[in-house]
Amino acid sequence: MSDKQFDVVVIGGGPGGYIAAIRAAQLGFKVACVDEWSNAAGKPAPGGTCTNVGCIPSKALLQSSEHFEHAGHAFADHGIKVSGLELDLNTMLKRKDTIVKQNNDGILFLFKKNKVSFFHGRGAFAGKADGGYTINVTGPSTETLTAKNVVIATGSNARQLPGAEFDEKLILSNAGALAIEAVPGKLGVIGAGVIGLEMGSVWRRVGADVTVLEGLPTFLGAVDEQIAKEAHKLFVKQGLTINLGCKIGAITKGANDVTVEYADSTGAAQKATFDRLIISIGRVPNTIGLNGEAVGLQLDERGFVVVDDECRTSLPGVWAVGDVVRGPMLAHKAEEEGVAVAERIAGQHGHVNFNTIPWVIYTSPEIAWVGKTEQQLKAEGVSYKAGTFPFMANGRARALGDTSGMVKFLADAVTDEILGVHIVGPVASELISEAVVAMEFKASSEDIARICHAHPSLSEAVKEAALAVDKRSLNF
Ligand code: FAD
Ligand code: NAI
Repeated sequence: MSDKQFDVVVIGGGPGGYIAAIRAAQLGFKVACVDEWSNAAGKPAPGGTCTNVGCIPSKALLQSSEHFEHAGHAFADHGIKVSGLELDLNTMLKRKDTIVKQNNDGILFLFKKNKVSFFHGRGAFAGKADGGYTINVTGPSTETLTAKNVVIATGSNARQLPGAEFDEKLILSNAGALAIEAVPGKLGVIGAGVIGLEMGSVWRRVGADVTVLEGLPTFLGAVDEQIAKEAHKLFVKQGLTINLGCKIGAITKGANDVTVEYADSTGAAQKATFDRLIISIGRVPNTIGLNGEAVGLQLDERGFVVVDDECRTSLPGVWAVGDVVRGPMLAHKAEEEGVAVAERIAGQHGHVNFNTIPWVIYTSPEIAWVGKTEQQLKAEGVSYKAGTFPFMANGRARALGDTSGMVKFLADAVTDEILGVHIVGPVASELISEAVVAMEFKASSEDIARICHAHPSLSEAVKEAALAVDKRSLNF
């Protein structure tokens, strides 16, 4: 095999692609990963959206801004007086950039460790070759690679609102929203989804007056209604202005501001001017420059690469994973698909359980869930039992000074199998893992109710919510 001939070429080095490459290498294949992302210095920055302008930098800023807010308000309750509190935004942003770079470098290290050949550039199909495919790489690296198996993991981009193209100065996508160089006095956000709420929280905590304009009349429609209601109440109390049912009209840029005209939920015409505007109305699959036409790669009407349940495309030996295919746009979903595809290439039975993929919104409090919502169960006509437990009744939450929110269990009325777990509250992102494991093992709420949980811990709220399904909470 020549040095440009591979068993597997992965196009895209985000969570789907780099994990697929590593797993394929672990299974003994000769693997290349091609990724075009460059950092400000023009150096390779693998890790995709997640590492560069998504999961990692947003969580860095969420943490920093939460510290700032706690130092300003919450510390006083603990008897800690802070005077002369100041925000050094530049340092906050630099810290975020350092964390991103550590992750980029970590992936390059992992490629070396696992003997994955990395090519920095854009990968495009050039045609079919010897029972496989030819991939041209252009950019910092220029190469022609061949492979029997190709994994497409090219991710997604922020969806544009027609007439309001991202300039990343006044009108910001997720990339610009993570790099505002001075706290805007007034920040507008279009779309009260995951990005809108996370980035809106960051900038509100450091002093921006944030207004979120959402098209739908319901808040967080995919979240369990009871949990979404509770979260909405808490966010409004924190000072986020959330206007639901808005129909966005003209968006006009001034020299230093942006004006949004919209109809509010009553249909009345409104106009608001912001120093910056984040548009977070979902993401679109990214197949730009892939040249799938050269090999007849099939896309659906929305531009997603068409795959079956096992991530097989319309072409033999070509697979696709992550944001560029159907399903939730989540890093851990992309990773699971990447692992499963590598294992399928090796003839193994890789598997992804789409029913137990957890969702987390990293606001404060965090929102996390797995499985069905109450409204889904009702719509499907499933008979169920529900149990809830508020963090207010949890000793550890009181000691932490973080008592907002609740845990909610939904279990089958007959078999008691857990059908969904929903949490709004402190570190919900960690607590939800217990529910994911339980559901993977088809546990009942009684199973969780009978398992010993450490005291005092937030996880006791999970156990108590499971007990509440059978109306026998001990501490509420
Ligand atoms: P991507 O991460 O988009 O990676 C694709 C890579 O392929 C990119 O590096 C791109 O440059 C490269 N590429 C594209 N085309 C080519 C080509 N032709 N040749 C070479 N390279 C190419 N998910 C979570 O689970 N948790 C979170 O907390 C979270 N936070 C987020 C916060 C924000 C602000 C955003 C925008 C997203 C967040 N997500 C989060 C979603 C998560 O980032 C994506 O689901 C995940 O990155 C998808 O991984 P992927 O590998 O499919 O694609
Ligand atoms: P989203 O789908 O979460 O939310 C988009 C929101 O915009 C929705 O509420 C939608 O109703 C609204 N909207 C759409 N068009 C509109 C319009 N014209 N006017 C007003 N409102 C409109 O999308 P978002 O926030 O852009 O994030 C994209 C994806 O990235 C998420 O769905 C998620 O998959 C991923 N992500 C995950 C995170 C996490 O796991 N914590 C964090 C951030 C993003």
